[in-house]
Amino acid sequence: MTPIVEARGLRYRYDTGFEALRGVDFHLHPGESVAILGPNGSGKTTFLLHLNGILRGEGELRVCGLPPEPRHLREIRRKVGFLFQDPEDQLFRPTVLDDVCFGPLQAGLTRPAAESRAAQSLRQVGLHEGWERPPYQLSGGEKQRVALAGILAVDPEILVLDEPTTHLDPPARRHLAALLAGLPQAKIVVTHDTSFARLLCPRAVFFEAGRIVTDAPVADVMRLHHWES
Ligand SMILES: Nc1ncnc2c1ncn2[C@@H]1O[C@H](COP(=O)(O)OP(=O)(O)O)[C@@H](O)[C@H]1O
Ligand SMILES: [Mg+2]
Repeated sequence: MTPIVEARGLRYRYDTGFEALRGVDFHLHPGESVAILGPNGSGKTTFLLHLNGILRGEGELRVCGLPPEPRHLREIRRKVGFLFQDPEDQLFRPTVLDDVCFGPLQAGLTRPAAESRAAQSLRQVGLHEGWERPPYQLSGGEKQRVALAGILAVDPEILVLDEPTTHLDPPARRHLAALLAGLPQAKIVVTHDTSFARLLCPRAVFFEAGRIVTDAPVADVMRLHHWES
């Protein structure tokens, strides 16, 4: 099976001169879920930002078979759905429905087609009503689900989640885990939430100082690195 993400010797240096990625080797197969664990500052977010071409380092990288060159970025960004730590960074339209329609409209759908696509995604994340509300009125868990609906509405092949449970209470965390577990897409999940990682990802990689130092079943990675809360 062709990997959906393939990185070999990926390196990235910020303008400050700090080398945040120092030779990352990573692969992910379609439908696979992997947790990215590791200390703060080890390069996890920097790595994720390469997957939709926000950052471009040296070394080999292919996402959905494509190198992240400018001519492929539009396609890559459609195939890679990014969910940020804080859904506030992602919701910016006046209503929930507008927000979820945004991606399909950008992709060229008509307003009615975009709305029907958005409705389908909102139901998929368990939001059956309140679509006319402004997103800022929602709870943290609901905001995260709206953001996820917005991503699902453009039918991505990979979901990339950067510490998605930080602003969620325990029931909302469990709800998000159950929801994500039922989605067919490949998933890359950066998290410090060990039970969330265990629920969702059979496999984990561990980042240390800009490299992946362990790639193994999630329980083994946690045991090896004494990584339990
Ligand atoms: N925009 C930036 N400019 C300079 N250095 C940065 C920038 N963003 C992150 N870094 C540095 O790169 C390293 C890795 O950061 P990051 O990828 O955010 O780590 P993590 O997500 O694992 O906590 C850290 O030392 C951080 O200070
Ligand atoms: Mg980070």
